[in-house]
Amino acid sequence: MVTGITSSDAEHKMLSDAGYAEPAINYYLEKKYMGHIENADQVSEKVGSCGDIMKVYLKIDSNHLINDVRYEITGCAGAVSAAMAAVDLVLGKTLDDALIINDGDVFKVLENIPEKKHHCIQLAVKTLHKGIQEYKTKKAL
Ligand code: FES
Repeated sequence: MVTGITSSDAEHKMLSDAGYAEPAINYYLEKKYMGHIENADQVSEKVGSCGDIMKVYLKIDSNHLINDVRYEITGCAGAVSAAMAAVDLVLGKTLDDALIINDGDVFKVLENIPEKKHHCIQLAVKTLHKGIQEYKTKKAL
C-alpha cells in the first residue's frame, strides 16, 4: 500500500525523534546556503575534532558587509543545520559584528539539537570566523 510518506517526511521524523527542534530540522532539510560561490572573496576550510570538514565561501562588499555565504560540508545533520543558521545570523552584518556571533546565538536559532551535536555548532562558527579572520588579514583590515 502506498502511504504517501516522502523521504523528507521520514528524515523529519528521524531528526525529531533524535532531539532536533523544528527550526533545526528545517535548516537541515532546506540546506539553503549549501554550495560554493564563484569568485568568492574568501574560501577557508576547517576540520572538526570529529574529523568532519567544512569549507566556507564568503562574498564581502566594498563596505565590508557580508553579502553572501555558502558552506560545503562533509558532516552530520547537526553540522548542516548549524552552518545554515549561522549564515542567517551574519548576512548583511559587518565583519566585526559577524565575529561576535557565538555558539549560543546559533543554538538559540536552532532551538534544540541533541547535546552530543553541540560541537558541530562550534565547528560551523569556527569555520565562519576563520574565513572572516583570514579575509581581514589578507586585506589588512
Ligand atoms: Fe562532525 Fe557533527 S559529528 S560535525
